[in-house]
Amino acid sequence: SVWEKHVRHSAHAKRENGLVVLVTGAAGFVGTHVSLALKKRGDGVIGLDNFNSYYDPFLKRARQGLLEKQGVFVVEGDINNIALLRKLFDVITFTHVMHLAAQAGVRYAMENPGSYVHSNIAGFVNLLEACKEASPQPAIVWASSSSVYGLNSKVPFSEIDRTDQPASLYAATKKAGEEIAHTYNHIYGLSITGLRFFTVYGPWGRPDMAYFFFTKAILQGKPVNIYQGPNQVDLARDFTYIDDIVKGCFGALDTATPSTGTGGKKRGPAQLRVYNLGNTSPVTVPTLVAILEKHLKVKAKRNVVRMPRNGDVPFTHANVTLARVELGYNPTTDLQTGLKKFVKWYQLYYGGGSSSSSSSSSKRRLRP
Ligand code: NAD
Ligand code: UGA
Repeated sequence: SVWEKHVRHSAHAKRENGLVVLVTGAAGFVGTHVSLALKKRGDGVIGLDNFNSYYDPFLKRARQGLLEKQGVFVVEGDINNIALLRKLFDVITFTHVMHLAAQAGVRYAMENPGSYVHSNIAGFVNLLEACKEASPQPAIVWASSSSVYGLNSKVPFSEIDRTDQPASLYAATKKAGEEIAHTYNHIYGLSITGLRFFTVYGPWGRPDMAYFFFTKAILQGKPVNIYQGPNQVDLARDFTYIDDIVKGCFGALDTATPSTGTGGKKRGPAQLRVYNLGNTSPVTVPTLVAILEKHLKVKAKRNVVRMPRNGDVPFTHANVTLARVELGYNPTTDLQTGLKKFVKWYQLYYGGGSSSSSSSSSKRRLRP
């Protein structure tokens, strides 16, 4: 069929011993960057995404256009669809699954808790079932989150620190994912690596994230809400630039050992790993706003909101020693530099001024 032809073509690795990777959430922010970088390196890549409308579907379609131009085919479907996953694993022998599909966002979990259970728990289990059935079984690298550290107050966060105080349902589903990964590794010998991303930002980013909609609000002359923690303390995030995250994902994929399965042969233990991928230098929300003002050359209207109980943690700060040693991870982009690149993209994509409020594609200058 035409579908099968597209899938086979997209999965073809151009370099010798190239990886063949199924990227879930490929039309998402991180998924687009990872898929493009894999393809560029000569690996085989197939995307999977359900194109849900959590945020601007036009943006997801634009990313898809970008991917398809580079020869990455994105299958439209849900990770909960076991028949679809079986068909994919039947047609292609994947060496790796890069699992980025999820319901992201911390505060939205109070509005739509079911979507977190659907994608981050049921969907993850369904994907692991498909990986377990596949022969040979692919190694899995997936996106956990800095949010698993929850209300832990020992900074910087190390992988061995406690993760038993999630502040949001989102965080709880990512933590659950880490526990679920343990069982599939233990019982079925799946090789699984969890990456705890710290507030990732950059071009083609997510419109639901603060840096993105602050940019939009500042350009429109609308106020930005700056949340504060208890005792009027500024919130801080270890904002991490997308290119650094992509390199961390490569480090994880390239050091992943094959899954060992449950077959009769004597095999070594499959990997079960978890790493922080952060920037190691937290920045407060007011500083984030100040940097955006500088790059946009527009003054922001600030509206300080005291102590919202909305799932946010007061601060995040990564210790990335483990990822440095084992994955060769080395974040190099500071927030100033990274936001400059984001703002440049934003102004190209939305054409600068106030047109960014519209989701109609006619207002976009940058076409895939
Ligand atoms: P994103 O929302 O841009 O990408 C996720 C993609 O997955 C979307 O395109 C969405 O349509 C798709 N998707 C969602 N549910 C699906 C389902 N059930 N079936 C198929 N596709 C589905 O988010 P992102 O920022 O690219 O995040 C990627 C991953 O990294 C997510 O797992 C997220 O939780 C995690 N993460 C992101 C950040 C960050 O700051 N961006 C930080 C920590 C962790
Ligand atoms: C981000 C992603 O959205 C999550 O998907 C991800 O899992 C998480 O990072 C992570 O690192 O694990 P968050 O840090 O909340 O979550 O990112 P933003 O939504 O961009 O918020 C950044 C900061 O701005 C937070 O401190 C938040 O409280 C603050 N904020 C947000 C405001 O002050 N005002 C707003 O209107 C919105």
